[in-house]
Amino acid sequence: MSQPPVSTSSPSSISGTSKDEVYEVEEALRALLHWYEDMGVNDLVSAAPVDFYNNFLPDNQPRTGKGHPQRSLNQNAPAKRTSPSPKPNTGILRPDANALPTDKAIEEASRLATQSPDIVALEKAVHDFNGCALKKGARNTVFADGVPGAPLLVMGEAPGADEDREGKPFIGRAGLLLDKMLAAIHHDRKTNCYISNTIYWRPPGNRPPNQEEILICRPFVERLIELSQPKIILITGATALKCLLDKSGIMKNRGHWQKITTQNGYECPVMPTFHPAYLLRTPKAKSLVWQDLQKLAARLRD
Ligand code: URA
Repeated sequence: MSQPPVSTSSPSSISGTSKDEVYEVEEALRALLHWYEDMGVNDLVSAAPVDFYNNFLPDNQPRTGKGHPQRSLNQNAPAKRTSPSPKPNTGILRPDANALPTDKAIEEASRLATQSPDIVALEKAVHDFNGCALKKGARNTVFADGVPGAPLLVMGEAPGADEDREGKPFIGRAGLLLDKMLAAIHHDRKTNCYISNTIYWRPPGNRPPNQEEILICRPFVERLIELSQPKIILITGATALKCLLDKSGIMKNRGHWQKITTQNGYECPVMPTFHPAYLLRTPKAKSLVWQDLQKLAARLRD
């Protein structure tokens, strides 16, 4: 079974901490909840933990209830198992012994990205790339949507369940809100906006991508920026901020113009703002995003 997402922050440290730390704790708890959901833990059955694997008896063992194979939840003594407990089918793939080590995967991603002369070739390179373990658990590679070469490039985090199913970024609830945000500054993915993510495959349970996954995808992300040459990049959320600028703290960084410089020296102005999924949970933050979008729109008009 895969491990639950673990945060270094602790909820008990909320008082006296910064808004960014509270944000990170909330994100970690949310990721943990998603992880449990993906593992099939969707019912609260008891205040105390119950080991259902130990509590299922093989067919030749006497039942305690009337024909019911499961011991009562009130019986605390574990049942004696006479055969190995069944393995939970989590649907999550175990680490692949044949997987490339991270440094080799980054090298391979850099080579493929550099060799891609245009966006079509880059998209194919990402689709064919097997160096990121997330690909094994994903249904689709989610590359980009919209108009390559548009003045505005929106960078999100990673595909969620809807995006994984359809193979397109930002098409779930957060995506619908993103479309509304863009429409408010007269942008959309059909005419003048290009949308992509910093990770191309859905992390299990919607957990935040880890540093290795970010580093492996980054050569493709940088190449996408170099090839699509946007006038401005809108960074949505803390993970995209970390990936593109190697900075932590979306609360303190949002609304401030910054610059990304790719390995090849290509530079582009970026505006970090909150992720639309955060706005769905925290509608009062919409006014701050509105301010960020106004700055963005003014610079796009220049
Ligand atoms: N969230 C993201 O950051 N990207 C998507 O594509 C969907 C949800």
